Amino acid sequence: AGRSEPVADARSESARKIKIGIYFATWWSLNVVFNIYNKKVLNAYPYPWLTSTLSLAAGSLIMLVSWALRIAEMPKTDLEFWKSLFPVAVAHTIGHVAATVSMSKVAVSFTHIIKSGEPAFSVLVSRFILGETFPPAVYLSLIPIIGGCGLSALTELNFNMIGFMGAMISNLAFVFRNIFSKKGMKGKSVSGMNYYACLSMLSLVILTPFAIAVEGPQMWAAGFQQALSDIGPQIIWWMAAQSVFYHLYNQVSYMSLDEISPLTFSIGNTMKRISVIVSSIIIFQTPVQPVNALGAAIAILGTFLYSQLLGLGNNRPLSSESALVVKK
Ligand code: 3PG
Repeated sequence: AGRSEPVADARSESARKIKIGIYFATWWSLNVVFNIYNKKVLNAYPYPWLTSTLSLAAGSLIMLVSWALRIAEMPKTDLEFWKSLFPVAVAHTIGHVAATVSMSKVAVSFTHIIKSGEPAFSVLVSRFILGETFPPAVYLSLIPIIGGCGLSALTELNFNMIGFMGAMISNLAFVFRNIFSKKGMKGKSVSGMNYYACLSMLSLVILTPFAIAVEGPQMWAAGFQQALSDIGPQIIWWMAAQSVFYHLYNQVSYMSLDEISPLTFSIGNTMKRISVIVSSIIIFQTPVQPVNALGAAIAILGTFLYSQLLGLGNNRPLSSESALVVKK
C-alpha cells in the first residue's frame, strides 16, 4: 500500500493540473471572444455605459434562471452578506465601466497593455493605503511594469486620454475590488460561481441609474437606429454575444479561484491579456510600431517577474491578491 500511495498522489496531481489547464483555456478563450464582440459593438454603437449594463444584466438573468431551474444551487445569503458585498460591487462597477469606456476610445490591445499594469497598482495601494511592505525586489519589479506601460502609452499611434485614464481607473478600482472581496468573503460559504452571480446583480442595480444619467434611452435609441442601418440586425447578436461572454469568462475565472492560488490567478490573468492583445491586433488590424510592442513586452515580462518574486519571497501573497480567493 505504501508504494501505491505516491502513484495515486501523482495521478490526482496530474488530474488537478489537467482540470486547471481546462479552466485556464476556457477562461482565456471566453475572454478573447468577449473582447472581440465588445469592440465590434462599440465600433458600431459607442455607448459603453449601456453595453456595460447589458453585460451585468445578462449575467444576472443567466444566474436567476440557473437558480430557478436548479442548474446551480441558490446561495444562502443574509443582509450581512449583501452589506459586505456592496463595496466590492461599487469597485467592480467602476472597474468594469471604466474598462469599457476605455475600449470605446482606444484599441483593445492598448486597454489591455495598460491593464497588465494592475500588479503595480496592487503594490502601491498595499504600501500607501494599507501600510504593507514588500521585499525590495518586488518594488524593483514595478520598474519594468510601469516603464513598459509608459513606453507603450507614449508610442501608441491612436492615443486618447479618456482611453488611457479609463484603463488606469479600472486598474485602481479592481485592486480595491479584490481587497474588499477578501474582507467580505472571510468565513462565508458561497461558491465562486454564486459569489460572482451576486456581484453581477448588485453591480447591475448600482450601474443602471448612472448609465441612464450619462447616456440615457434617447441616445441609445438614436444610436441603435444608426447601428441597425450600418450593420444590420446582426448588431443585436453581437450585443448578445458580448453580454453573455462577459458573464461566462468572469464566472469561469471566479470558479477557477476555488482551485488555484491567488498567485497562479494573477499569472493566468496576465497570460490572458497576452492572448487578447495578440488576437485583437490580428482581428482589428491594429497598427503597432516596434517600440510600442516592445513596451508591451517589457510590461508583461515585469508582471511575470513580479509574480515570481511574490511567490519566492516570504510566501505572503499581496492582500489584494489573496482577496481573490473565494472558498466553497
Ligand atoms: C471589463 O469590462 O470589466 C473589463 O474588460 C474587465 O477586464 P478584465 O476582466 O480583463 O480585468
